Amino acid sequence: MSAWGSDWGRLPATAADWRLKAQARLPRFLFDYVDGGATDEQTLRANEAAWAGHTLRQRVLVDVDGVDTRTALLGQPCSLPLALAPIGLAGLMARRGEVQAARAAEAVGVPFTLSTVGICPLAEVMGAVQRPPWFQLYMLRDRGIVRALLQRAWAAGCRTLVFTVDLPISGMRHRDTRNGLSAPPARAALIKAVQLSTRPGWLWDVAIKGQPHGFGNLSDQVPRAQNMDAFKAWIDTQFDPTVTWADIDWLRQQWPGTVVLKGLLDEGDAHAAVQAGVQGLIVSNHGGRQLDGVAPTATKLPAIAHAVGAELEVLVDGGVRSGVDVFRALALGARGVLIGRPWVWALAGGGERALTELLQRWQHELKLAMTLAGVTRVADIGPQHLETLA
Ligand code: FNR
Repeated sequence: MSAWGSDWGRLPATAADWRLKAQARLPRFLFDYVDGGATDEQTLRANEAAWAGHTLRQRVLVDVDGVDTRTALLGQPCSLPLALAPIGLAGLMARRGEVQAARAAEAVGVPFTLSTVGICPLAEVMGAVQRPPWFQLYMLRDRGIVRALLQRAWAAGCRTLVFTVDLPISGMRHRDTRNGLSAPPARAALIKAVQLSTRPGWLWDVAIKGQPHGFGNLSDQVPRAQNMDAFKAWIDTQFDPTVTWADIDWLRQQWPGTVVLKGLLDEGDAHAAVQAGVQGLIVSNHGGRQLDGVAPTATKLPAIAHAVGAELEVLVDGGVRSGVDVFRALALGARGVLIGRPWVWALAGGGERALTELLQRWQHELKLAMTLAGVTRVADIGPQHLETLA
C-alpha cells in the first residue's frame, strides 16, 4: 500500500487525517490500543475539547517580521516548543517505529522520548540519530532492573529522564477488552486472526519485516523475551504501586541528569515536585488512558504553571492536536507540549516522511498563530493572547 493509504483522492494534512490513515492500515486491536482511553473515554474527549475552548486574540499592525518558533525544552534547543511523548509498543504501529519517529523528530528539531516499553531498544534508536532521546521510565518492582536500565541510558548519552508517575497500575480500557486482549488465549487468538486477515499490508510491512517485536529495552531482563504475551504478563506484575515521593530521592541518586515527573494534575503534587528537587513536570492524565473522569489537562495547567512555573519547567500533554493548540498551551503557562497519538497516527499512516511533514505543518501553524497574535518570540506568549484569560 502507498504511504498515503488507499484514499488517492485526498492528501492528509492534519492529525485527524492521519488518524483515518492509521485506522485503514492498522489491525483494529492496535488502532484501538492507540486511539482509545480509559473506560467511557470522557477525559480523552475532554482533553481535546478543553484546548478548543480557549479563544485566541487577533492583533494587527504589529511588526511581526522575524517570528521565531525556536525555544529550548529542558535545556535542549528545539525548533518549536514540542516533544514526542513516550509511546509503548510504537514499533508495532510502523516498521521499527521508534527509529522512524526519532529520525523524524531529529529532522524537524524536536526531542523524541523513548518509552521503557518501546519495541526498538535504545541502542538501535541511537544508531539512527545524532542526539540521544529523552528516556522514559516506569518504576518496576525489581529495582535492579531499573538501575540497569538507567545505567544503560546514561552510558548511551541520554541526559533527560521522564519518570512517569500516573501508572501505579494499568488503566482499564474497554476497547482492549472488546478486542479480546484480556480474553482466554484461544478466543483472543481467534479475534486477532480475524482482524489481521483484513490488514495484509501491515502483516507484511510491520509484523513480518519489522521484527523482532519484544520490549527492546527489557529484552535481556525478561525470561522468554521474544514472546510478546509473556512480556505483557511480566510487565503487568512489575508495575510498582508502592512508589512514593521518597523514591524520587533514590531516583535522583541513580540519575545525575535532568529528572522530569510525568503525570501530575494537582497543584499540591506540583509543590511536592519542587520539594523533591526535580527539574520539570508534565501536566498529564496519560492521554485520558488511566483514570476516566479526571480533569482535562488544559483546565489544570494554568494553576500549576502559576504555582511552580518559576521554579521548574512545566510541560503539558493530552489532546494537543495542532500548532494552534501548542500556542494555547503556551498562553496558559506551559513551556512546551508533548504529543502522543498525533505522532503515532502519522507514523502508522505514512511513516517517517508523514510524521516529518506533520511536525513541519504544526511549526508553520504555530508561526501563523504567533504572527496573527502579534507576538514574535515563544517566550512572550502568555495569557494576554487569549480572550478567556485576558
Ligand atoms: C501512551 N502514553 C505513555 N506514557 C508513558 O509515560 N509511557 C508509555 O509507554 C506510554 N505509552 C502510551 C501508549 C499509547 C498508545 C498512548 C496513546 C499513550 C501516554 C503518552 O505519553 C502521553 O501522555 C499521551 O499520549 C498524551 O495525550 P495525546 O497527545 O495522545 O492526546
